[in-house]
Amino acid sequence: SRWRLRIFEALDSTQSLVSGLAEAGEPEGLAVMARRQTAGRGREGRSWEGPSGNLALSVLLRPGGPARDLPQYGLLAAVALHEAASHHAPGLSLKWPNDLLRDGAKCAGILAEGAVDGQGGIAHLVLGLGVNLAHAPEVPGRSTAALGPTPPEEFARTLLAALEAWMFRRRLEGFAPVRAAWEAAGPVRGEMLTLRQGSGTVSGRYEGLAEDGGLMLATGGRVHRFLAGEVGD
Ligand code: BTN
Repeated sequence: SRWRLRIFEALDSTQSLVSGLAEAGEPEGLAVMARRQTAGRGREGRSWEGPSGNLALSVLLRPGGPARDLPQYGLLAAVALHEAASHHAPGLSLKWPNDLLRDGAKCAGILAEGAVDGQGGIAHLVLGLGVNLAHAPEVPGRSTAALGPTPPEEFARTLLAALEAWMFRRRLEGFAPVRAAWEAAGPVRGEMLTLRQGSGTVSGRYEGLAEDGGLMLATGGRVHRFLAGEVGD
């Protein structure tokens, strides 16, 4: 396959390591896994627990294309993750933009970090995937779950294969099939969702994903598209 998987016993953060290498010109396809992470990073400046038995994996992509396509890749990674995880546990669904839930509790998260070049194109993209396999670390104010113990390295290989297949598919067919797969694994249309954006919140009826991967919510008789924020539990 196109991946070069490197496995470390312990790292502060696979994401920080791969981002640094990306800046230094590392070719696409590097995948770094750590059996244990001591300073894992989550979205929006949060931390992410990475005890041994769970998966911490970061991959480097250089897909090209315009920076406005960046949000698509977090959703694509979520679709690949959902597919890989479906072999291990029932009751899985996606929460916008790219959390994996098991019976409504978070069991995996994705940190998608892109760098833009001088022409407004994607210079590189680092996808960081944290998957609770053996343990569901406690996070205050949030319910967490795990997929069940399975060798992290094996799970990583399944996940990388799914990611490669979805990247290939996107190159051939664009974002539409990714969006359709996300919607099939996401909330039920018509469900009420609350989105936190900075200090404010918006509640509305879920109306699917926009063509660019934005979250569509109907409130006050109109459909609005959101590109950032955190959906409540
Ligand atoms: C989230 O907040 O939901 C995203 C969590 C992402 C965690 C993964 S673990 C592998 C990679 N390395 C990190 O430091 N973070 C990501």
